[in-house]
Amino acid sequence: MGITFAKPGLSIGVTIKGMASHPDFQPTGLPTIGHRRSYGSVPESEKFGVGVVGLHEGHTLLVALRASGLCRAVAGSDLSEVKRQEALDSTPGLFVTDDYDELLARSDVGIVAIYTPDNFHAEHIEKAFQAGKHVMCTKPLINDPKDGKRLIDAANASGMRLQVGQSTRFYEPFQRQRELFKAGHFGDAEVVDAHYNHRMDWYYEKSPWTIQDTHWAYLGLSHPVDLIRWYMGPIREVHAVGTITELGEKYGAKTPDAICVNLIAENGRIGRVLGNYGFHELPKARALIECFLMGSKGSSLARYPDLRFTYHDPNGVEIEEDYHNAMSGYHFRHELKGMHYGEFCNYTDYFASKLISGEPNSPDLVEGLASVMVMRAIVESLETGKPVRIESLP
Ligand SMILES: NC(=O)c1ccc[n+]([C@@H]2O[C@H](COP(=O)([O-])OP(=O)(O)OC[C@H]3O[C@@H](n4cnc5c(N)ncnc54)[C@H](O)[C@@H]3O)[C@@H](O)[C@H]2O)c1
Repeated sequence: MGITFAKPGLSIGVTIKGMASHPDFQPTGLPTIGHRRSYGSVPESEKFGVGVVGLHEGHTLLVALRASGLCRAVAGSDLSEVKRQEALDSTPGLFVTDDYDELLARSDVGIVAIYTPDNFHAEHIEKAFQAGKHVMCTKPLINDPKDGKRLIDAANASGMRLQVGQSTRFYEPFQRQRELFKAGHFGDAEVVDAHYNHRMDWYYEKSPWTIQDTHWAYLGLSHPVDLIRWYMGPIREVHAVGTITELGEKYGAKTPDAICVNLIAENGRIGRVLGNYGFHELPKARALIECFLMGSKGSSLARYPDLRFTYHDPNGVEIEEDYHNAMSGYHFRHELKGMHYGEFCNYTDYFASKLISGEPNSPDLVEGLASVMVMRAIVESLETGKPVRIESLP
């Protein structure tokens, strides 16, 4: 596994008739890839067929899969006719339906990819398992821990596997940070400081369910909580404080949209998570997502949407790797910074490669549910004002 160079536009063969209104749409339909990660490739006829439910962020996956070596988009489902038409415009030949059951019934769908609003994930995952499909589900995996047990039961009954679509892990700077960490460059992860801060007026306007049907502890903190668990392992206890920002109040938030959490791991190491969804961004100073890993032998900082990774080399020299020129075509596809094409393609191909090899994938259902239990404890801590120990799944 590593970074390879793909020639833009080869082996794609997509003809675009009209210009769709999806903001991520590339008018030529041809990917601009540049350097990318590769998880291997198989002939077109042997690729996993992917069926996507929820065609807003899910549309990103349809387009991202043009660069995939192991998977191809075969079906899409959304209740909205506009979203279905946009999917067809960008992905000619795609089977589209407003009926999720119809997508699940298709024999060419091997992997179901779920991008519906958070509170539908549990129902859609369970149905996919029951239909005998492997599942990819975007973050947060679920937003009510009570659903966890039945998902484990459904997975066990079906023998199918699940990959959590933790996009940040699969973004190039975070992949580089992980590679060097695993190679021992930073020693033990003693303190990890991760955040996801993003002003969300645009999201409230686009998707009102983000106010009514979920909690920022799940919707937003699912990124940094996953990063902390990736480095620190199982979490023992959290203590969270939160507030509702002026922006949150304007859009009717009933629970905090700015949350700060201290975490202690089972191994005694400590972490800190921040999520602020009502602040005024200062992108020159701080990236939307950062993972600052303070290790016994050195430190490193991975950022999103900056394609930059900063770290100590073994002599303590500060190194900055800048992937903007090399990889923005793969991750963003166009001039807009902050898209998810590369990460989505990475985690889909990663999952497919693990299905082929039979090796375990990460984060899988069990690991994803462990993060859900951390997020549940964060909500309880916000409500009680007290430190909360992480419980096992109810
Ligand atoms: N970095 C990331 O990985 C990332 C980024 C953005 C969003 N997300 C996640 O993706 C999910 C969707 O977010 P979004 O911004 O696309 O939301 P959205 O509101 O823009 O889109 C959700 C879509 O799901 C469709 N839908 C709802 N119920 C359906 C059903 N039963 N069958 C078929 N379609 C249905 C809606 O019509 C809508 O088009 C959320 O869970 C969000 O947290 C992840």
